Amino acid sequence: MTTLKVSSEGLNKIKEAIEKIKTEKALTLDNEYWLDEASKFLPMVKNGKKEVPDTVSIGTWNRFRRNTGVSPKYFQAFCQVLGLNWEEIVDNIQPVSSDLKKASTVSLDLKNAPTASHFFGRTQELEELNKSILQEKCNLILLLGRGGIGKTSLSIKLRKEVQNNFDYTIWRSLEASPKIENILEDSIKFFSNQQETILPETLDEKITRLINYFVSSRCLLILDNAESILESGNKTGKYREGYQDYGNLLKRIAESSHQSCLLITSREKPQAIDLIAKKTKTIKILELDGLNLENSQKIFTETEHGEFSGSEHEWKLVIEHYAGNPSALEVVAASIQEVLGGNLSKFVEDYLKLGQLKFEEINDLYQRQFNRLCTSEQEIIYWLAINYEPASDTELKEDIISWQTKQELLQSLSSLKRRSLIKTTELGYTVIPVIREYIIARLIDEICEEIKTAQIQLFNNYCLSKATAKDYIRETQIRLIIQPLLERLIQELGGKINLENQLQQIISNFQQNSPQA
Ligand SMILES: Nc1ncnc2c1ncn2[C@@H]1O[C@H](COP(=O)(O)OP(=O)(O)OP(=O)(O)O)[C@@H](O)[C@H]1O
Ligand SMILES: [Mg+2]
Repeated sequence: MTTLKVSSEGLNKIKEAIEKIKTEKALTLDNEYWLDEASKFLPMVKNGKKEVPDTVSIGTWNRFRRNTGVSPKYFQAFCQVLGLNWEEIVDNIQPVSSDLKKASTVSLDLKNAPTASHFFGRTQELEELNKSILQEKCNLILLLGRGGIGKTSLSIKLRKEVQNNFDYTIWRSLEASPKIENILEDSIKFFSNQQETILPETLDEKITRLINYFVSSRCLLILDNAESILESGNKTGKYREGYQDYGNLLKRIAESSHQSCLLITSREKPQAIDLIAKKTKTIKILELDGLNLENSQKIFTETEHGEFSGSEHEWKLVIEHYAGNPSALEVVAASIQEVLGGNLSKFVEDYLKLGQLKFEEINDLYQRQFNRLCTSEQEIIYWLAINYEPASDTELKEDIISWQTKQELLQSLSSLKRRSLIKTTELGYTVIPVIREYIIARLIDEICEEIKTAQIQLFNNYCLSKATAKDYIRETQIRLIIQPLLERLIQELGGKINLENQLQQIISNFQQNSPQA
């Protein structure tokens, strides 16, 4: 029997819609209401010669809520009760029906790929990339561009367009700097249908094994945010200590002959790419610019940000000011809507003309947006930023200390999504990289101030490096949060000894004030 399931984003929408109706109508989840309402949308069924109304059981309702698969007519009926468009939330990428499965031989592992809620323009880029993959059979594709310009979004869209031409598609984010061994192991297991669990010893052999699969099957490997494995502030795209082997992987994939493709997104061009590009024709490098005027405007008008008013000239001023950067425009749209009721003219007069918001000062923009968040939303976004990998609402609940934030979790997550500060993936919620950078910088600033003044609050509420996290995540947390924090404190307190004394003082304050003291 064919059953339908929803995508992880769809599941969140279902949860939100149920919560809303539950609160409005003061219902419980096992109330007859859900079944009675759904029955109204079901076609009549035959009972002997008579046509009678169909009914739906509580078990089907529970299967729908938990996403374990229900038949299409019930699926559609429940969506109607919840005011959702079933076609928008059904997971048509991995059909669960056995008959559908036979028709599709595409295997996907998109664990931490964000799901795009909207996507505008980029038709020319998509055409070019489709051509590189399908006609020119490029082995290696590099999508380059500034933070927030839309590399991840474009690669998601491209993946959907080309995935039927591949037997396997796997997506991994490099944002938390996983070791190359992790990526190779995941990929080889996936391409071998989990058959190959004992992998060769050396890294070279592992890469050879991966390339064997690239030859025997059509594999698409997407590595997002590759700048995380490059040295920051180094214009030559040098690999970070311990990550040079990624360079080897790129080189070997580009120079071997196979029927697969490695797609990389990065803010910076990795070292030696130009050299490889000179030697082989099967490499494509595409640098992304901002969105054009028309598509930038859609970020305001065709998303959930509300209504906007402004003259043609004012629209142009705002969009050009942010160079068509979709991430900046999403945040600006949410702010204009919230603060100025969507009045672009006021934004131009009061902010732009005064030069208060420059593109280079994008952090100022994020700061304004952050300051508008309620305490629960702030707590959640800090945790999502620290986690580096997506987290489900259950995992977040374990992290969060405040009782009130736990209570408001789903509501706050949905509000953060509406403000375009977080995204959903199959594994849960995550912060988009440009926003994460801002949140982490802010966390470091605040904790530094707390330690200097011995007024501890955030420092006590957040675990900056979790003992339970994977090794590479812990290393990333140490490198990007703890290390910069320590360096700042040592500098601002005038040396290591002073810092030790200050921390000692904070600990004894705690001991004195704790109830056991
Ligand atoms: N073509 C588009 N249409 C609508 N929204 C877009 C488009 N491209 C990007 N966005 C939105 O802009 C934000 C940033 O996009 P994205 O994460 O793809 O940028 P990025 O270049 O990968 O950034 P980073 O370098 O930080 O990883 C996202 O919230 C995304 O939804
Ligand atoms: Mg990205």
